[in-house]
Amino acid sequence: MLKKLLAPLKMGNTTLPNRVVMAPLTRSRAGQPGDIPTALNTEYYTQRASAGLIVTEATQVSRQGQGYALTPGIYTDAQEAGWTDVVKAVHANYGHISLQLWHVGRVSHSLLQENGAAPVAPSALIAEGAQCFVIQPDGKQENVPTEMPRALATEELPGIVAQYRQAAERGQRAGFDFLEVHAANGYLLQQFLSTNSNQRTDAYGGSLENRARLTLEVLDAVIEVIGAKQVGVRMSPHFVAQGINDAEAEASALYLANAFSERGIAYLHIAEPDWAGGPELSDAFRAQLRAAFNGALIFCGGYTAADAEALIEQGTADAVAFGRPFIANPDLVARFRQGAALNKPDRTTFYGGGAHGYTDYPTLDLPQA
Ligand code: FNR
Repeated sequence: MLKKLLAPLKMGNTTLPNRVVMAPLTRSRAGQPGDIPTALNTEYYTQRASAGLIVTEATQVSRQGQGYALTPGIYTDAQEAGWTDVVKAVHANYGHISLQLWHVGRVSHSLLQENGAAPVAPSALIAEGAQCFVIQPDGKQENVPTEMPRALATEELPGIVAQYRQAAERGQRAGFDFLEVHAANGYLLQQFLSTNSNQRTDAYGGSLENRARLTLEVLDAVIEVIGAKQVGVRMSPHFVAQGINDAEAEASALYLANAFSERGIAYLHIAEPDWAGGPELSDAFRAQLRAAFNGALIFCGGYTAADAEALIEQGTADAVAFGRPFIANPDLVARFRQGAALNKPDRTTFYGGGAHGYTDYPTLDLPQA
């Protein structure tokens, strides 16, 4: 019995019908040209509308914030219109949906940037071992190492905050229930937060408070647009890929969790590192996060329904997000409810392509493959 996992949850001013959250999942199928959500993307999200909350795939707040070809944006009218269709369809199916706001920072390449510019970062330090996905001038699609970024000048940081603000305005107009600031997985905000990727000497580098400043400025801008009760943040303490190695990971996460509580945001979403490498979160740290944050706390990474139920039962989590299970099981909630077997995700169709491996996973009502 999954009494807790399938129970409603009040998040901000919204009541979610269950606590099974669909994790943000980059699927690299945005319409081209223009990185615009399509009817196929709408179908994919609509199929998954029975999730308590859908978090969209990471969505770049600007061209500068893009690190992979074929991911959607939220900075043009056409992108906003595409997302509006997604949201309408999810709402028509009684779903709830949060838009993940993304700036990749240094995890990018001049081929993705306006006029072949260098990617931007807190400091001119390459993301060791990180790759991005590009379309070469001859049309060839491939993963390539990220390029050396240029350090952002202090005077440019209000412009970064403005990118998120404008994206939040578009997200609000598109009708999203929540906006999720992506401060995880080694992208721009975590690059500022992490002790090794931020070597700045201005007010945005050095102390923990300084390294966390940009995240809080971005958050405050998003809150100004839509209100704290419709805002969430995703963080990944202990994340070690993309060249991230934060000597103060837990202290930073707890400092921010307290700052989020003061602002009264709706939720904090913790991406656990186990799926991408990195040390597991300890129970003690999970409990500290719980104590520091007064909104809805979501954990994600390698959970089964039974693990999720236990984490909610013991009071550590309010909800649990599922990534790969939702790729392969559009009706994941129904399967959990019935104790049905799960379809296995096909890794070869995670990124890019069309309907195959995207909208054609069988549901319980259909004949099983
Ligand atoms: C991800 N993940 C991810 N995280 C994020 O914050 N934004 C994103 O766009 C993506 N994209 C993405 C694509 C794919 C194909 C995978 C497999 C993962 C991480 C994801 O949200 C989640 O944290 C992990 O998948 C771990 O959860 P599961 O899959 O073990 O339930």
